[in-house]
Amino acid sequence: MFPQRRLRRLRRTPALRRMVAETVLTPDDLIAPLFVREGIDEPQPIPSLPGVVQHTRASLTAEVKELVDLGIPAVVLFGVPERKDAEGSGASDPDGIVQVALRDLRDAFGDSVVLVTDLCLDEYTDHGHCGLLTPSGAVDNDATLDRYAEVAVVQAEAGADIVAPSGMMDGQVAAIRDALDEDEFGEVAILAYAAKYASALYGPFRDAVDVEIADGGDRKAYQQDVRNVRESLEEVRADVLEGADLLMVKPALSYLDVITRVRAEHDLPLAAYHVSGEYAMIKAAAANGWIDGELVALEQLTAIKRAGADLVLTYLAKEAAAALG
Ligand code: PBG
Repeated sequence: MFPQRRLRRLRRTPALRRMVAETVLTPDDLIAPLFVREGIDEPQPIPSLPGVVQHTRASLTAEVKELVDLGIPAVVLFGVPERKDAEGSGASDPDGIVQVALRDLRDAFGDSVVLVTDLCLDEYTDHGHCGLLTPSGAVDNDATLDRYAEVAVVQAEAGADIVAPSGMMDGQVAAIRDALDEDEFGEVAILAYAAKYASALYGPFRDAVDVEIADGGDRKAYQQDVRNVRESLEEVRADVLEGADLLMVKPALSYLDVITRVRAEHDLPLAAYHVSGEYAMIKAAAANGWIDGELVALEQLTAIKRAGADLVLTYLAKEAAAALG
């Protein structure tokens, strides 16, 4: 008789399952997003991101120490400035909050942690958009590229290993690469938010960085349409040609197909951003006792890796690394 397939044989014991596991999540895969706020004396909780805070300079350094001790290789910094203006000046101020924090962290940890900076203007503009506005209120692509170039150089000067442009302006990777190379920062890498969707899952993040988009606006004129996937492949190709060193898909869970497609086509390291809304959903359901938060967290992060991501940016980094031991 034709032998019956017995797939359950290899699921019988934990050791067998471990032996045949196709995907292994480790702390090395995790990048922790951290918020640092100018002008505060105590860390400020973010109600929509339970367990995440806006750090002071001191609490940021303490947090990075814990993350490094847990084996997490990298953090990505977001700044919350005291003052915002139309140009997002704080983003390129050598004494702006992220630049000061970069110097603190480099002094404290040397090269034992990879310092990534989100490179965007929205945390610093009073209108909340990721770029400069034209008189009619549209986001001006090319004027914004000049600002990104300035921000990149200032972040590199302050010690960033990797800059991560998240504004979805056309040509941003090339503009940043040129500016870095011209200023002798050829070693600084670019993690391109290559395929970034106009997602409703960024809500808690906007609480974390005190961003409200003016006039009830949105980012649909620069971030991608949720209905598209081929467009993502075009975005990623453009960023690769422009000189990206690492690629990113964002958000993660609703875009596993995008991760898989990008992985199939490209061999650069690929990151996915498990975003604030994805984190908040786990925390809210777990707080209600409706799911086991830790198990769901590990399941989701593993799924993102299984889909093809090498790295996951996640607010779960610390607890996941602790759980992975
Ligand atoms: C833009 C930026 C955003 C996020 C990361 N970088 C917000 C946006 O595009 O509106 C969202 C991250 C998250 O939701 O966790 N600087």
